Amino acid sequence: MILPPLVAFLFVALSSARPASYAIWAADSAIARRQGNGLDANGNAIVSYEHGEFQLGLRQLFERTGNQTYFDYIRAGVDNIVYNNGTVHGAYSVSEYVLDPLRTGPTMLYLFEQTSAQKYKAAADIFRKQLDSHPRTGEGQFWHKLKYPNQGWLDGVYMGSIFYADYTRTFEPTNLTAWDDITLQFTLMYKNTVQNSTVANSTGLLYHGYDYSHKTVWASSDRGHSPEVWDRALGWYSMALVDALEILPQSHPGYQQILDILHTLVPKIIAAADPTSGVWWLVITQPNRDKNYFESSGSSMFVYSLLKAVRLGLVEDDDGKIVAVAKKAYEYITANWVITNADGTMNWINTVVVGSLDTTGDFNYYVSQSKNLNDLKGLAAFVLASLEIERLEA
Ligand SMILES: *[C@@H]1O[C@H](CO)[C@@H](O)[C@H](O)[C@H]1NC(C)=O
Ligand SMILES: *[C@@H]1O[C@H](CO)[C@@H](O)[C@H](O)[C@H]1NC(C)=O
Ligand SMILES: *[C@@H]1O[C@H](CO)[C@@H](O)[C@H](O)[C@H]1NC(C)=O
Ligand SMILES: *[C@@H]1O[C@H](CO)[C@@H](O)[C@H](O)[C@H]1NC(C)=O
Ligand SMILES: *[C@@H]1O[C@H](CO)[C@@H](O)[C@H](O)[C@H]1NC(C)=O
Repeated sequence: MILPPLVAFLFVALSSARPASYAIWAADSAIARRQGNGLDANGNAIVSYEHGEFQLGLRQLFERTGNQTYFDYIRAGVDNIVYNNGTVHGAYSVSEYVLDPLRTGPTMLYLFEQTSAQKYKAAADIFRKQLDSHPRTGEGQFWHKLKYPNQGWLDGVYMGSIFYADYTRTFEPTNLTAWDDITLQFTLMYKNTVQNSTVANSTGLLYHGYDYSHKTVWASSDRGHSPEVWDRALGWYSMALVDALEILPQSHPGYQQILDILHTLVPKIIAAADPTSGVWWLVITQPNRDKNYFESSGSSMFVYSLLKAVRLGLVEDDDGKIVAVAKKAYEYITANWVITNADGTMNWINTVVVGSLDTTGDFNYYVSQSKNLNDLKGLAAFVLASLEIERLEA
């Protein structure tokens, strides 16, 4: 087809306004804003789990496109938090015993594998050593943070245990104690947070966290769990399930245990999607309640987890139902939460800034937290979800 010059010009101008791939568009927009590069808004080094989450997407984009810019961005981001002697800096201290920083560890392992530079192994070793003395509940669950005694949060499994598994695969693949311990983090979290038939109309989903000592203000008296199912916490945990199953040796018994949890949760996650929009409520346990809303980070995390579970053959999807649920949600996501900017980048909206168990953990707490423009926790999940969607189309 030969287009008249003006039409041809417009066509080129419009089509070059944004990349065809949402994964690339979202990632390039975040890079243009200097997000996820190991520095905070003031340019100070910061070990941040959301940077680690974003780097996982960039890594896949580098592998898919061969575009060196993505690799260099990842490396510069880690170099901002690791000195040449391998010391980790950027508001990180082992003695605070927080799991969140360890989410940047898989990027260090990746850089070590790609470059053989010892500094990345030295940095990963520091994180791995933290786990050796990290405080635990009486059953063996890592505390989310030293300052939250006896508390297991779903978020922590994604932050700590994926690094733990990746490190074990890389350096100690025959360490059965470590594989057992990683499995335990998943099974304890499931057992202690699942909303089971003790509750009417149980969703079968997981409360945000639990306090093994049942002492904190939000802990239920019977089991110590927190009051609500928060979409992003469950999103972290569901991403952790599929990511762990990509790492654990299939011959280890933990593989089947984690797979069983995935099999149990996938139908429950699907059942919890809002039937009209296809996406998920911020407080999943309170659909349609005033002030509740559809939240973009958790929804993107579920799309990623569902599609990756199918792609890896972890769940059967002969009738295509799981993929259809993910596609429907993704359609809503791109139509409602991606905003085109005049400069050709995109904005990402409707990601809640925070959901913590440091106060009441009740409905009013979650819905009163603000939403952030271009929040990287949500935007990175959107990159990961888009990579999975685009694999379906490839
Ligand atoms: C590689 O990625 C960068 C960073 O987003 C982008 O600006 C550049 O156009 C890409 N290069 C190619 C050849 O696609
Ligand atoms: C590593 O390098 C940093 C920055 O140069 C320095 O402050 C720190 O003391 C060094 N640590 C060790 C263990 O050498
Ligand atoms: C194996 O893993 C366990 C549990 O993390 C750890 O205590 C131990 O030091 C590891 N052993 C080796 C040989 O690395
Ligand atoms: C609910 O889960 C708790 C903790 O795992 C368990 O003790 C209890 O028996 C379960 N109740 C039912 C009815 O499944
Ligand atoms: C459980 O669901 C039924 C049917 O939708 C409803 O009538 C009932 O009120 C619900 N119970 C609770 C405690 O939410």
